[in-house]
Amino acid sequence: MTARKKRIRKAVLPVAGLGTRFLPATKAMPKEMLTVVDRPVIQHVVDEARAAGIEHFIFITGRNKGVIEDHFDSQFELERTLAERGKKSELELLSRDLPDAGQTSFTRQQAPLGLGHAVWCARDIVGEEPFALLLPDMLHHADTPCMADMIRAYDKHGGNLVAVSPVPKDQTHLYGIVGVENAKDKVSPITKMVEKPPRGTAPSNLHITGRYILQPEIFDLLSQQERGTGGEIQLTDSMIRLMDEARQPFHAVRFDGDIYDCGSKIGFLLANVAYALARDDLGPSLKAELRKMV
Ligand code: UTP
Repeated sequence: MTARKKRIRKAVLPVAGLGTRFLPATKAMPKEMLTVVDRPVIQHVVDEARAAGIEHFIFITGRNKGVIEDHFDSQFELERTLAERGKKSELELLSRDLPDAGQTSFTRQQAPLGLGHAVWCARDIVGEEPFALLLPDMLHHADTPCMADMIRAYDKHGGNLVAVSPVPKDQTHLYGIVGVENAKDKVSPITKMVEKPPRGTAPSNLHITGRYILQPEIFDLLSQQERGTGGEIQLTDSMIRLMDEARQPFHAVRFDGDIYDCGSKIGFLLANVAYALARDDLGPSLKAELRKMV
């Protein structure tokens, strides 16, 4: 089957996970609303998608995630108070971040059955077009946003794409790993894909980082609801079938920036430091304070 080359307009953002690694912070608050400097993690990821030209944001939410919907809505009382107090720059900041009416959709994954199941929940909203998928807890920090790189690669190659980045060889069993035709190329055809390969069997050390462009046929495979590793419906299992059985092309796009897993405590702490150090208003003073501290 030849993959169609339609423009990527929609992004799926699965935010229905339980965030157990971050308890007790995530008992009542979604982990996606934890702040990296002064923006919720999910806002950083929406910023990345917007910078890549995405026009519609599809959030897969669950219980206790209503505050994410509120975050992407206008806050009438707050805006009126800011206007009355002449707080123009704060008002501008809020309006800059606000998606236009109709640019967001929210649907619930009623039980956290796995990432593959969360993505499948978006099938009717995505429809028959390729779409971007961004895992919101994985922050990709770089001068050129990762998704913008991927859309450029999609414009050239079409099909399906996943962002990849090297991990130490003794950690490949923890990730989805791909083998590629030429690991030195920024964009290379994927020859093999495997979820959490047993130690010593990984086809490379390139792990799937949480940014994807997928063709809508993935939904047919996800609808079979097959359970994989950990009893969850895994996205990687359906991607492997899309590549091996449906013969759809997959390319890896190497991401050269820094990745912070904000679902883990250390990743979250490092993200805060890195994002603050990169800012003109905070970087110099934070650097000086950190030098004193460590
Ligand atoms: P994670 O496995 O990192 O999220 O899933 P989690 O389950 O919330 O984390 P822990 O292990 O309990 O701490 C990656 C992404 O997929 C979403 C999560 O919200 C996260 O953004 N996800 C995962 C869902 O939306 N639904 C699921 O069933 C599983």
